[in-house]
Amino acid sequence: MPSIIEISGLSKTYEGGFAALKSIDLQIEKGEIFALLGPNGAGKTTLISIICGLVNPTAGTVTAGGHDVIRDYRAARSIIGLVPQELTTDSFETVWATVSYSRGLFGKPKDPAHIEKVLRALSLYDKRDSKLLTLSGGMKRRVLIAKALSHEPDILFLDEPTAGVDVELRRDMWNVVRDLADQGVTIILTTHYIEEAEEMADRVGIINKGELVLVERKAELMRKLGRKELRLSLTEPLTALPDGLTNEGLALSEDGLELIYTYDTQAERTGITRLLSQLSDNGVRFRDLATSQSSLEDIFVNLVRNQQ
Ligand SMILES: Nc1ncnc2c1ncn2[C@@H]1O[C@H](COP(=O)(O)OP(=O)(O)OP(=O)(O)O)[C@@H](O)[C@H]1O
Ligand SMILES: [Mg+2]
Repeated sequence: MPSIIEISGLSKTYEGGFAALKSIDLQIEKGEIFALLGPNGAGKTTLISIICGLVNPTAGTVTAGGHDVIRDYRAARSIIGLVPQELTTDSFETVWATVSYSRGLFGKPKDPAHIEKVLRALSLYDKRDSKLLTLSGGMKRRVLIAKALSHEPDILFLDEPTAGVDVELRRDMWNVVRDLADQGVTIILTTHYIEEAEEMADRVGIINKGELVLVERKAELMRKLGRKELRLSLTEPLTALPDGLTNEGLALSEDGLELIYTYDTQAERTGITRLLSQLSDNGVRFRDLATSQSSLEDIFVNLVRNQQ
């Protein structure tokens, strides 16, 4: 897949000296759904704002659709739709007017049929004549999405699109986003909901303290999720693994008191039966055992904690 966004050596130090992004390299593929995960203050909004040309980088380059986001600002911006994190939709304007106006801002000719399609897809058509300030928080967020889609962008940024949106509506929004991706729109979303990343993303990037610490296909992450750990507490500590214990995935804890066996839950054979018989053949006795499964959340928390 060719990339539609190319980010290289991107850094941002805000006035006052705070380094919000540290040399980010990232390519976004055309048509993919990319989820950016990270704790509060990690730099997600800063990264998106730079790509959208709203914040100037301190170093590095970004192109969108081949256009440099600074030198070719207008061309880059014309193919990008942005749903910002902050709600700024408290006005007397109607839903219809504000969404149509957004399209005009990008110099596109009026297209009521397109606006209607967008509003219907987001279940906002019934509210088209309502003033924004009379809408609920979840509706306002959908209006922001409608505005971002008004000019038919190739790339859509969604900064925390479903924060404060109820579970049912969140699923509706996921469907809208998926349909867009099926039509070839490239989607980059940030989220605090791990479930959202699991559900939606083709690839996941984890950002922490301004550094991109992991970028991986979701399928690969799910494979990792499918891994389980079996921990055996030994009655006597071992100094090394006995020669007869040849199972791949077997390790001895540092204090020698635990055997840790990692296995793939999706595999046909887990190897546990063989391990247990080898233990007894080698006279290794244990007094307790426990299994645990890693989740995307574990991977996320570990990565973020290790970086503290
Ligand atoms: N205009 C600014 N001036 C100075 N510092 C800023 C500015 N904007 C953001 N920052 C700082 O940069 C860091 C990254 O902020 P950013 O908004 O990118 O984080 P985020 O990952 O989007 O967080 P959240 O999940 O809370 O939305 C934070 O420490 C923030 O305080
Ligand atoms: Mg943010």
